[in-house]
Amino acid sequence: MRLSDIKLGCSSRETNPLSLSPVQVIAIAGGKGGTGKTNIAVNLAQALANDGKRTLILDADLGMANVDVLLGLEPEHTLYDVMRGKCRLEEILLTGGDNLKVIPAASGIGQLANMGWQECAGLVRAFSDLKEPIDTLIVDTATGIAESVAVFCKAANEIIVVVCDEPASIRDCVSQLKHFYHDYGITRCRVLASKVDTASEANALFQNLIEHFSDNHSLQISYAGYIPADKNIRKAVVRHQTVINSFPRSPSAMAIKKLARRTMDWPQPECAGGHVEFFVERLIDKENIKMEVVS
Ligand SMILES: Nc1ncnc2c1ncn2[C@@H]1O[C@H](COP(=O)(O)OP(=O)(O)OP(=O)(O)O)[C@@H](O)[C@H]1O
Ligand SMILES: [Mg+2]
Repeated sequence: MRLSDIKLGCSSRETNPLSLSPVQVIAIAGGKGGTGKTNIAVNLAQALANDGKRTLILDADLGMANVDVLLGLEPEHTLYDVMRGKCRLEEILLTGGDNLKVIPAASGIGQLANMGWQECAGLVRAFSDLKEPIDTLIVDTATGIAESVAVFCKAANEIIVVVCDEPASIRDCVSQLKHFYHDYGITRCRVLASKVDTASEANALFQNLIEHFSDNHSLQISYAGYIPADKNIRKAVVRHQTVINSFPRSPSAMAIKKLARRTMDWPQPECAGGHVEFFVERLIDKENIKMEVVS
């Protein structure tokens, strides 16, 4: 079955026979390219996996995928095969280490890069058929305001928007958040300052950003912390390893571990929101269990 054939509101399995627990889904987004999204996604996933969370990364930078490169993986099949109906999602799952799985995308394939709303929604629905026990899904999105980015962010429980202390990054971040809000009804996100030198620089960056939304009281933007500029990130990338495992005491690794611990305190998904969401069946099952207990 092609992704575009998976209809809204149905997966090939009607209910969740395994009664799997809800999954915390965190999308990593950012208006400008090169802010550090993919490195943050991969290292956050690694930190969570090292802490015992069963973690899955979806490389949702559909046209310019590089999660596999950062982790030194060589996928035989990718989301392109899933999109064409040649593989099921679980058949392209790769193991990135203990507690760490990866769904790879492809690089340089226009058809995948230009996936529209229906195909992206089909991909989100396809997650409902995964039998893997998963605690957290990290979604590394593409830069900017492509439809796929908004669909994946809307389908997540949490959105981390990555921003650098540069005018273009701040402006693109503001544009992305306005687009999310006005065109997709996304009303909540967390901002992570990336490649900054100090905590006060990160704080000032956050204050600068939220001033652009001082007249919008419906949009809830909170501060997720910061990742310092750190040469060890590049050193780890060159080794095809995570900075968390290669340089665990480095400033960036310490900051990402702190972020990972903070994410564990974020509210866990409780109930379905009525739109296209990852692992919605697991939420509906949880609601049904609650209702049975109450009645
Ligand atoms: N905290 C950091 N300190 C120093 N360099 C960093 C840091 N984070 C990322 N980088 C470097 O910045 C570059 C871009 O990183 P990355 O690919 O993670 O960004 P991205 O936002 O995912 O980019 P794209 O928009 O292309 O998807 C890489 O060369 C990476 O090594
Ligand atoms: Mg990236």
